[in-house]
Amino acid sequence: MRDPVRERYYRHRAPVYDVTSYRGDAVVDAALDQETADIGELLAALAEGRVLDVGCGTGVWTQFLRGPVTALDQSAEMLALARARVPHVQPVQALFPPLPFIDGAFDRILTANFYGLLRPDERAAFLAEARRTASELVVVDLRSDGSRHEEAIESRTVAGTTYPIFRRRFTPESLQAELGGELMYCGRYFLAVRV
Ligand SMILES: C[S@@+](CC[C@H](N)C(=O)[O-])C[C@H]1O[C@@H](n2cnc3c(N)ncnc32)[C@H](O)[C@@H]1O
Repeated sequence: MRDPVRERYYRHRAPVYDVTSYRGDAVVDAALDQETADIGELLAALAEGRVLDVGCGTGVWTQFLRGPVTALDQSAEMLALARARVPHVQPVQALFPPLPFIDGAFDRILTANFYGLLRPDERAAFLAEARRTASELVVVDLRSDGSRHEEAIESRTVAGTTYPIFRRRFTPESLQAELGGELMYCGRYFLAVRV
């Protein structure tokens, strides 16, 4: 179930992640920033509790979480950036699966732009591990450009090295049908579902 190419890609990309993530022209950037702030407000308004951010990256979404926050990522480079942005987090460098925590360790798991990277066997493992370790799951992920759910191997280049990365982009319907729960946010670029 490991994906060493994906692991290497995110380690390589860590230093430029924030300046390259989902960035387009000035209008797109402004919309992305607004949607990030909107979802951030929703996350900050959730009941405080023990929270785990899975695939935290540089901590873009971790910064909105309230309560004792654990941030997990396979990349030491990403975790160092997340700690610089959100100094109070407990960083855990680990490769999912599994989630290396006891049953019921958390009140909530947040995962942003991670679920859409997972292939079917990893998705099933992730949902089972999320249910085992937390009572609630919030998934933030990318909305497709059109009206159709998309799945593709995307070519991503960092400093001259190209990586094939499996990526899904959801419609509100496809994400909710897959996860159940409540559609918390439906923007042009991001969706959030709470299960
Ligand atoms: C698209 S980034 C999302 C980062 C952040 N949540 C955000 O939305 O900006 C995916 C993150 O998942 C991490 N990751 C990928 N596969 C992983 C795995 N199997 N176990 C743990 N972390 C993983 C990567 O290192 C990367 O930081």
